[in-house]
Amino acid sequence: MSKRTIVTLPGDGIGAIVLEQALRVLDAARFDAVYIHGDIGWEFWRKEGNPLPERTLELIRKHRIALFGAITSKPNEEAKAELDPSLQGKGYIYSSPIVGLRQYFDLDICVRPCKSYKGNPLNFIRRGRNNTIEEPLVDVVIFRQNTECLYSGVEWTNPPDNVYQALLSHPKFRDNFGKVPVNELSVSTRIFTKKATMRILEAAFEYAAANGYKSVTVCEKPNVVRETSGLMWKLAKEIQKTSYPGIKLLNTNIDAQMMWLTKNPEDYGVIVAGNMFGDIASDGFAGLIGGLGFACSAQFSADGIAVFEPTHGSAPKYAGYKIPIVNPIAMIESACMMLDYIGETGISSSIRKAVATVIAEGKVRTYDMMKMKGSPEVIAMGAASTITMTDEIISKLKV
Ligand code: NAI
Ligand code: MG
Repeated sequence: MSKRTIVTLPGDGIGAIVLEQALRVLDAARFDAVYIHGDIGWEFWRKEGNPLPERTLELIRKHRIALFGAITSKPNEEAKAELDPSLQGKGYIYSSPIVGLRQYFDLDICVRPCKSYKGNPLNFIRRGRNNTIEEPLVDVVIFRQNTECLYSGVEWTNPPDNVYQALLSHPKFRDNFGKVPVNELSVSTRIFTKKATMRILEAAFEYAAANGYKSVTVCEKPNVVRETSGLMWKLAKEIQKTSYPGIKLLNTNIDAQMMWLTKNPEDYGVIVAGNMFGDIASDGFAGLIGGLGFACSAQFSADGIAVFEPTHGSAPKYAGYKIPIVNPIAMIESACMMLDYIGETGISSSIRKAVATVIAEGKVRTYDMMKMKGSPEVIAMGAASTITMTDEIISKLKV
């Protein structure tokens, strides 16, 4: 097979550290690729007034696949103050480059697997019958709509008159909010489109069918949020009936789902939700399998652009360490999702087996796996560094 070209977007802080480790693992597993570096993050905001330069978009447009570390975002005032003096006062406005990337390429499908590794000391345990301790193994894959819902940015405080008049035309608004002064109103809209909702549902069912999951659970709140959650639930029933009758369709409300997290997480397979509830559900399930050091993700657009990233951020407080301490597994797992996407499943499965072996043996563990508070001292206290953990995974690779 010809060499793959992958755009690497290290970004800020620990993003760059974990990405470098993932590339070491890919090399050791003999993945044959050319990596092209893309500029993204705080440095480019400061120097150029743009954390997501056009040349980076061009690289991704051309090569279609990117591995992303993490970026640092800061509130507007802080961002302005850190701009290069030559750019200050020229109207540059900071916005998160990863959110920008998702919007620019319409990466509307976000996949977040949460699968427990045997022997991970961070796995969720619960009390069973007769005071026994149970460790249910979680194998959930969350399909989160990534571009719409409450995160689309269509919102107002003190809405303009045409918007206010439109709101007043809704009887529930008139009855419940009609007397509130307009300048005391904040409105964030929850928009679902049929097209994007169909796409995330189709992707979830397709994944369940292809990977042997028995159920797809729509995790929304259609009994209350009737139009948007209702749309997703209605379309899910149609898709299941016409195309996936062999897959069980379940319906949970996000609030109840959060309560059931610790009750029966092993009962769920594929979960599909809108942007906000998908965000909440994926953090909830990630907490059961080890948290941020283990939470990987993939994002896809309709026209074949794919970006793979750990769900953690740049953890600036750990970025400057002489010996890095953060867990590289979430990033390595994200790289495995990339390998699956391009059909290199032999390599991804050998990497996952190596990770599983290291975790099961339990001899090499990063500070989070040892339940330590992060600090430079954790290494002297027996925690593995980011590099040692990666070395250990590489040493277990069977290629
Ligand atoms: P964060 O995810 O960077 O870190 C939160 C805490 O989780 C860390 O302090 C650390 O204790 C732990 N942690 C994170 N990654 C870990 C790893 N690989 N191994 C072990 N422990 C790990 O979130 P935070 O502190 O809220 O945000 C820091 C910066 O990252 C902010 O500027 C934020 O805007 C940005 N961010 C970027 C994201 C992205 O690039 N996709 C996502 C989330 C936050
Ligand atoms: Mg989140």
